[in-house]
Amino acid sequence: MNTTMIEAQQVCKSFSGLKVLKGIDLIVPKGSVTCLIGPSGSGKSTFLRCVNHLEKVTAGRLYVDGTLIGYREKNGVLYEISEKEAARQRSDIGMVFQNFNLFPHRTALENITEAPIYVKKMDSDKANERARELLAQVGLAHKADAFPAQLSGGQQQRVAIARAVAMDPKLMLFDEPTSALDPELVGEVLRVMRDLAEQGMTMLVVTHEMGFAREVSDQVVFMDGGVVVESGRPEEVLDNPQHARTQEFLSSILT
Ligand SMILES: Nc1ncnc2c1ncn2[C@@H]1O[C@H](COP(=O)(O)OP(=O)(O)O)[C@@H](O)[C@H]1O
Ligand SMILES: [Mg+2]
Repeated sequence: MNTTMIEAQQVCKSFSGLKVLKGIDLIVPKGSVTCLIGPSGSGKSTFLRCVNHLEKVTAGRLYVDGTLIGYREKNGVLYEISEKEAARQRSDIGMVFQNFNLFPHRTALENITEAPIYVKKMDSDKANERARELLAQVGLAHKADAFPAQLSGGQQQRVAIARAVAMDPKLMLFDEPTSALDPELVGEVLRVMRDLAEQGMTMLVVTHEMGFAREVSDQVVFMDGGVVVESGRPEEVLDNPQHARTQEFLSSILT
């Protein structure tokens, strides 16, 4: 049985000559939570976007659940897959962004049912029933008919998480999911994420929430300048960092 969800082998990504990822090696086991930390500009979002096929890697290999991302390999040669194939692979991966990205003219419920109905061709009664269950799980059963503008940032982000989960993803990616929130709203979103982790969801989370990283994650990965500087159990990386750059970064965010 394949127990690895994400495997990055020397993943590189350049944007017109600018090298942003310079050989990322990373393994995310199934059912585990990995927190990706590092200074602004270190390539965290770019790496997440590569995992989700929103960007194509320029060298190296990236596998999700054993499937090579973005390319097909035939007799040792890599061929780019079509946008249609990429979209199909992407539908297995949930992504939650800093700015929620809900559809503004759809209610909370409609935001959640949209992709199951139109992408997965799920029967609409079934999609509605599942969406109500998910809204209840994120504590928003009473907000089914609210539009995003009528919800707080924390509530919008919880809807966004429910929307991603509605597609039954095998992997969830979070890119600074609480960074745009007022401090008092951060906890409610982290709680929903913690619940998901406890249900066994495989998660890769870019975050500066060190409490969450420490308590919920199995692995913390520190990136700087497009490389993984160090990774390990949260208590190893956060309490006993081996590299000066990790120490500097941690002291800059903890003070
Ligand atoms: N589409 C793009 N085109 C050109 N440069 C980009 C693009 N996306 C990201 N970059 C550059 O890549 C570097 C890493 O960005 P990013 O992955 O967003 O870092 P982080 O999420 O760690 O802050 C930055 O220098 C950024 O300007
Ligand atoms: Mg980023």
